[in-house]
Amino acid sequence: MLKSNQYNLILAIDTSCDDTSVSITYKNYILSNVVSSQIKAHKIWGGTVPMLAKREHEKRINNVVKYAIKRAKINLNTTIKRFNLASNELLELQEKIKKGKYVEFVDAIAVTYGPGLSIALEVGVKKAQELAIKYNKPLFAINHMHGHFFSSFVFPLSRFNSIINVDNLDSFYPILGLLFSGGHSEFILSNKIGNFKILGATLDDALGEAFDKVARMLNLGYPGGPVIEQLAQKGKININFPIPMQNSNDYNLSFSGLKTAMLYKIRDLKGENRVQPKEKKISYRENIKLSKVHRNTQKLQKQIVYDLCASFQNSAFKSVIFKLNKILKNNNKIKSIVVGGGVFSNVKFRYEVKNALGVLNPNIKIFIPYSTRLFTDNAGMIGISAYILNYFNKLEPIQLEKDILKLDRNPSLTTEEFYKL
Ligand code: KG4
Ligand code: ZN
Repeated sequence: MLKSNQYNLILAIDTSCDDTSVSITYKNYILSNVVSSQIKAHKIWGGTVPMLAKREHEKRINNVVKYAIKRAKINLNTTIKRFNLASNELLELQEKIKKGKYVEFVDAIAVTYGPGLSIALEVGVKKAQELAIKYNKPLFAINHMHGHFFSSFVFPLSRFNSIINVDNLDSFYPILGLLFSGGHSEFILSNKIGNFKILGATLDDALGEAFDKVARMLNLGYPGGPVIEQLAQKGKININFPIPMQNSNDYNLSFSGLKTAMLYKIRDLKGENRVQPKEKKISYRENIKLSKVHRNTQKLQKQIVYDLCASFQNSAFKSVIFKLNKILKNNNKIKSIVVGGGVFSNVKFRYEVKNALGVLNPNIKIFIPYSTRLFTDNAGMIGISAYILNYFNKLEPIQLEKDILKLDRNPSLTTEEFYKL
């Protein structure tokens, strides 16, 4: 039995890592999805610093909430006008939204309570509790990974009622979810809406994390994914990196060996031209001269860096595709694939996945988020997860104040878990 739509209009918050994000969603459509990125603040440290993330979330969260509300109102009005979407449903929504100054108009609040950085999650959870209690709204506690899973079913308001409706979502099941981000690399089998089974996952580094670490080795900055993708386009796949986990009998992945292979390769390449002093005793001047030569050889030629990026990326993606093929061969009931997580911003990765499906089983439908902004962390996917899971009776919001206050972040939440009171 499907629900009558009690919670269509949701304000969602995600502060799981280093993006402060707040959205307003209506059913599975985005009214606003504001992401305030902290990359600049973390960049100088070469990665996310939890304490800094917490402070930045605290500094930004109130303004991001305000801005998301403002954007939702503007976007609703302009989209209705521009796309001529004057249905009764949207006109009613317009009226409803006009009434509230702040969050009064929403039906519920949703928040990511895990997985993620503990002290970062805490900021979002606290803000969500405060809003839910102050404005007397029910509160959905959402698993961040469910957000990535459902991000392919998030749509812009301009496509209202024109494409996939949540009503027919179950016709696409069983779904295989490919979730690859900075913290996770997982194959998720979902036989029914709201069931999540981890078929395989990385045993060590997540794929995005491996990109970030390799970028650090090559002094390319943070985050590593986008810059490696860019440089790889100019490179050749001519360095022989291993394709990890090809001989393992499961669907798991591992990227730390590949990362170490990269480290050794960089050392080899840098060492090739290294000048070694022949005599033990050398003068101070000579020493300076030699160390200058040495420093110059520490820089890899640009083309070699491009080739390293292309070859690393190729091996990492091949390893994922190898396991994807294996899963699809052994699970012939899978009807669709959804992709989510920051690594899917990578065009080559999406191409490789689509290509593998084309070869193996072109009947499998692949859903990809409509905007690249939905691959990386955002609150829109959290609001829509709350809507979908509630619509299909898989999740209820927390109603009572005493229970809302009990909600705590869970940094090590697994993709299979839900919030339980
Ligand atoms: O999903 P996300 O925003 O955050 C987590 O939940 O972790 O993913 C961030 C990760 C980072 O590790 C980043 O390097 C990686 O996604 N990433 C990419 C690309 N863009 C972002 N990896 C490969 N290619 C890209 N173009
Ligand atoms: Zn994420």
